[in-house]
Amino acid sequence: MMQIQKLYQQAISYAAEKHAQNNQKIPGTNLPYVVHLSNVAMELFVASSANDGLNMEFAVQVALLHDLIEDTDTTCEEIEDRFGVEIMNAVKALTKNNKLPKDQQLADSLIRIKKLQPEVWAVKLADRITNLQPPPQHWDNEKIIQYQKEARTIYDELKQGNDFLANRLKQKIEEYSDYIK
Ligand code: NI
Repeated sequence: MMQIQKLYQQAISYAAEKHAQNNQKIPGTNLPYVVHLSNVAMELFVASSANDGLNMEFAVQVALLHDLIEDTDTTCEEIEDRFGVEIMNAVKALTKNNKLPKDQQLADSLIRIKKLQPEVWAVKLADRITNLQPPPQHWDNEKIIQYQKEARTIYDELKQGNDFLANRLKQKIEEYSDYIK
């Protein structure tokens, strides 16, 4: 087994470059997208230090690679060749199927996530924790309410995956009410 520090560096370098190719930023900010990825990984490290049931070698790579298929031209084959089939399957489950109607995409992804390891559930929880930041300026109230509602669905469906992250997400959802006008 390779050291986790090395796995982290390989995955973040690969993902940072792919997301930078189309100059992707965190919506509503000027921050390069890799900041989002490292924040998701950070949430998992904090969760694993509170409660060490997580396979962090696996979880941290999934965290850093989780948006590659959704947001870049990276293929499943590339991810499988570099990181293995388990990580590719996890990233795939975390990817919305854009052939479905928009209002079915989250539910569909959650069904696929729930068939996989608890680390994959934990990445989805950490992803939404990380995304519950002050909403972008251009979002209207309806969009903000919808985003909070989606976060509740994620919490309800995945809370059994990781107690620490579930509690943290619950708190972030409550705090998010401050942004609703
Ligand atoms: Ni994400």
